[in-house]
Formats: sequence, structure tokens, C-alpha cells
Amino acid sequence: MSDRIHTLSGYFHEYQKSVTEPEKFWARIADSFHWQKRWDKVLEWDFEGPDIKWFVNAKLNITENIFEKHLYTLGDRAAIIWEPNDPNEEGRTITYRELYHEVCRFSNALKAKGIKKGDRVIIYMPMVPEAAVAMLACARIGAIHSVVFAGFSSSALADRVNDCGAKAILTSDGNYRGNKKIGVKSVVDEALEKSSVDTVIVYQRTGQEVTMKEGRDHWWHEVIEGEEDTNKAEVMDSEDMLFILYTSGSTGKPKGVVHTIGGYMVYTKYSFENVFQYSPGDVYWCTADIGWITGHSYIVYGPLLAGATSIMFEGVPTYPDAGRFWAVCEKYKVNQFYTAPTAIRALQAHGTDPIEPYDLSSLKVLGSVGEPINEEAWHWYHTHIGKTRCPIVDTWWQTETGGIMVSPIAGITPTKPAYATLPLPGIQLCIVDNEGKIMTGNSVEGNLCICFPWPGMLRTTYGDHERCKQTYFSTYKGMYFTGDGVKRDHDGYYRILGRVDDVINVSGHRMGTAEVENAINEHPLVIESAVVGYPHEVKGQGIYAYVISDMKNRTEENLVNEIKDTVSKIIGPIAKPDKIQIVSGLPKTRSGKIMRRILRKVAEGSLDNMGDTSTLLDPEVVTEIIDGRK
Ligand code: WT7
Repeated sequence: MSDRIHTLSGYFHEYQKSVTEPEKFWARIADSFHWQKRWDKVLEWDFEGPDIKWFVNAKLNITENIFEKHLYTLGDRAAIIWEPNDPNEEGRTITYRELYHEVCRFSNALKAKGIKKGDRVIIYMPMVPEAAVAMLACARIGAIHSVVFAGFSSSALADRVNDCGAKAILTSDGNYRGNKKIGVKSVVDEALEKSSVDTVIVYQRTGQEVTMKEGRDHWWHEVIEGEEDTNKAEVMDSEDMLFILYTSGSTGKPKGVVHTIGGYMVYTKYSFENVFQYSPGDVYWCTADIGWITGHSYIVYGPLLAGATSIMFEGVPTYPDAGRFWAVCEKYKVNQFYTAPTAIRALQAHGTDPIEPYDLSSLKVLGSVGEPINEEAWHWYHTHIGKTRCPIVDTWWQTETGGIMVSPIAGITPTKPAYATLPLPGIQLCIVDNEGKIMTGNSVEGNLCICFPWPGMLRTTYGDHERCKQTYFSTYKGMYFTGDGVKRDHDGYYRILGRVDDVINVSGHRMGTAEVENAINEHPLVIESAVVGYPHEVKGQGIYAYVISDMKNRTEENLVNEIKDTVSKIIGPIAKPDKIQIVSGLPKTRSGKIMRRILRKVAEGSLDNMGDTSTLLDPEVVTEIIDGRK
């Protein structure tokens, strides 16, 4: 516990040390973990390559730092509390000892199916404890997991399976979400039509009928039968891959962000304990899905490395009603609650009545993640959920950063609505202008970069190191570029302003405009399309698509629905455009570049000043687009 920050001066002191002597700082933090062999060197780095190594040549297994390290002292403590979708179904509490045995048993089963160190395993599962067991079992035997959010379509799943060359898929028969029962295995079957995956393991959740392919598909409960519930963890190098997680960017298909074992382990536990000020015995709940990085770092790895009790929730915020989150908080006496602004805004729309019946006095800390939290939502959260008593930690970070980068330390850093406030120890931020010049001093606004490595950072993008270099390390030389705009105010506090690239953030989910355009263009009648984000009351940003299409004999309504279905099929329902406007042309410059600035303005409804349109090939289309605005 000596790594815990307790006071504001303590934070500044630690921050200072982490910048002046980073290797000494991180070596001290890393010392509290169990390493089979200590590192030769704390850090080797070069942001040109990029080539980053933390805890060089150290050997370890991350699961030994969750289980072996905790079993004697915390064996009977709840590791995971599972709350099912249906409040009338009984939940499950799984202790560290039970989880250890489950992970060992399942990892033995994976080995028996021929899965070994270095193999890639896709996890396409709903929010059941077995999803965490699956991740940890992979880590236990040195297989690399890649969790794919179970809301993605079969073609999005197939892309990921093929990109990482997965050997196995771990999945379920179906999935409960609100009042819906959704097929999961059927999506896997479709994705695997043209693939060489030779092992599929299916966890039975809904009991619905599925087709099992002889020789390839196995039931979870059958493969673990007779397997030992202990084993020895595989010896891994600190820089071996722990997982791949696919995320969207401004160009091309989603890329596989790679995290390695040692640094990710140290960073997620350190950031978890400090940001949330987690104390032993507290009950912590993060409402994310394990398909996203938040679920990886702050449902599974960070909390379990810290010996915490982590709630895993299968359902949705509004089922059976808009009081569900608060019912769960009361039921388990939740101390730290971590959710996304989009969920807060959705619940805000239901008013405060759904909160009234519940006792929220156990809450100590509230967290926010995924997108900028607007001041109104911040105040609602603070007043009605935190009863003005709980500090809010607005945590800024990314899939690529592995863990929280800019955030208040709960109860210690004075907060300001909509501000992520200050960087965690070890995080060296800088703001650069569009020419790459570093902007010093306060009251400045520009592009957010990070100019020194931190242990949780990505190491590469799977199978394409050049893409990693181009995307993150080439825009501004010698720096990691986040893609976000930021303001540093007169107090030196950071406020994230949102993406400055062609990425939109829909309900905290990252979407590349190019990716959505490509999906729209798959519709046979679509000639061209352009996608932009626009402010959306609940989602933060909505998706607005301009489409040039040969209508044939369809009505506009039919065509719009068909296009939405196409996007759902190719990516998943989360990428479905909120608005589609059929146009006869797009505003292009003489060199053929779409002027997105204009499309964004129209989508957000600021119609009076279109800026300079003199370089447009055909200024007429702007008038048409404005007139047909959705
Ligand atoms: C992008 C990363 C990291 C977990 C969830 C999203 C935006 C994230 C905040 C915040 C303002 C935020 C950024 C970032 N973002 N948290 N607290 N305030 N913006 O992970 O899918 O990798 O997306 O989400 O734009 O770049 P992700």
C-alpha cells in the first residue's frame, strides 16, 4: 500500500519523482509484484521505431499476481460478483480461490485442445464470469486473447479472426440483454464460414438451440470435465503479448492494438488503486463491457491484481427500469461506481424518481469514462447519485494507453466539472500546435501528445508495425499523438475537447468515419457517401451520413432503412447512422477532396456561416444539402 497517494502534496511529490527519475519510480512500483525473474533494465525506448520495452528480460505470469499472490490472504474474498440481466435470477459470487480453480481448470482444457503459448484466441462472449475466466485462462498458458464485443456483426468478427490468425474462439450459445435473447453462436458460425479456426468452445448461457459442428465445436462444461483445478502458470517474458484489442481509427479497417504483460500489469493496478482510492474490502463496480479496454483494465486486470471485489453486470441500465444501476449499488453496497457519460445522460432523461427508492449511502467515488462529460451531466451525477458527497473522477485515456492517463485522484485532486484535471504520475503530456510546436504555459489549446513512455502503452498494432508508427508516432516527431484536442486552463488543468481526426465517439464507442462510409458503400445502390459526427443529446455524438444513391424504384424511406441494415450487418448495430440524407452531390474541392468542415456544420445545424466555399467545384450542392437537412 506504500504506492498509494494520500494527499495533494503527495501527488505532486510522486509526479515530480516520476518525471525526474522515471526508471527509479516505476521500479519501485513494480517491486510489489511477483516476478519469477527480475528485470535487467527498467526501460528501453525509442519513439521513432517505435520500440518500447518495460522491465526488460523480466519473467512473470500476470495470473500469479492475481492468484498465487493473493490466495493465502484473500482466498475467501469475493473476486467477482456477477449480477445477471434479470434481477430475479440469482447472481453469483466467486471468491479468489474459486476463480483460481476455474481459471486453472479451463486453462488445462485449452491446453488439452492444443492451444499453446503465443496462439491467438478470440473471446466473443456476453458479460458472464466465464468471459473473465476465459481471458485469465489464456494469460495463464501464454495464449494471446482478443476479446471482440458481442454486439459486433459476423463480418466484423470474421475480419478480426482473420487479422490475428485466431486458432480458437470462445463463445456462448446466446446472450440476454434487457428483454431480448440474442443469438451469439449463430454469429460465430457465420463468421467462420470461410476460416480455418479449428476449435470453438461454447458456454451455455441461454440454453437456446445452436448447431454444433462435429470435431470443431465443444461445450464449455464438457471440455472442463475431469480437468485438474490447479496448474503451473507458463513462464512469460515481460514483453510477450498479453492481448490484442481491435479499435477504429481515421483510416482503414480497425487495427489490433497490442499490449504486453509486464508494463500493462504494473500500470493497471497502480492506476486503479490510486484513481479510485480503492481500500481492501471495498466493492467496486465498472459498468463497461469486457469487449472494450475499460472492461479489460478496470473490470478484470486492474481490480483483480489489486485483490479487489469487482462487480460484473450482464444487463443494461434501463432494464427492467431506469433504477437498475441504483438497485445494484444498494444490493451490493457499492463503494466505487464507474460508468460512461452516455449512460448518465440516458438516465438523466428519466428524471430522479427512479433513484428515490434506493439507498446510495455506500458510494464513495464516482467515475466517468469514454467521452467528454458535459457540465450538465456532471452536476446531475454529482448531485443526484453522489449526493454532493462523492468526488467524481473524470478519467481520460484510450485503448492504446492501456490505463487511465489524466484524472483526478479521488477525493484528493480538487475537481472541476468537465475537466479530467491532471496527469497521473509517470504521464508526461504536451500540447502541440498544428505545426508540431510545443505550447508552453497555461491557457493554451491544441493537440494532445505524450512525450515519454509509460508502462501501459501499446507496443504495436498486430501484424503491421508500420501502421502503428504512422498512426501514432509520425504526426508529431518524437511524440505519441492521441488524436484528441485539449485545453490547459489558467490553473494548469486539462480539459479534453474531443477528437481532432476523422474519428467520432458514439456513446463512448470509437468509430472511424471511413469505416462507416465503407460499410454504407457496400449497399449496391450507393454511389458515394460521407459520414460526420454531430452533437447528440444522449450519445454524445450521433452519426450523420450523406449518401449519393441511385434510388431505382425505392422510396427514400426504404433506401434509408436498407442502408442502416447494411451497416448493422457489416459492423454492428452500434455503427448504424442516426441520420441519412440522400444528396445528389458532395461538396468537393477542385482536387476532389470532400470538404467535411461544411458537412459537419450542416449536420450540427450551424447554417449561417459556411466559411470559405470559394475552392468548391460546385457551390450549388451546399444549398441543396442545407435545404435537405435532416
Ligand atoms: C477516446 C478513446 C478509454 C476508455 C474508453 C474509450 C475519448 C475517453 C474520455 C474522457 C474526454 C474521453 C477520447 C479518446 N475519451 N475518455 N474522460 N474525456 N474524452 O476508449 O475507444 O479507445 O476511445 O475516447 O476522445 O481519444 P477508446
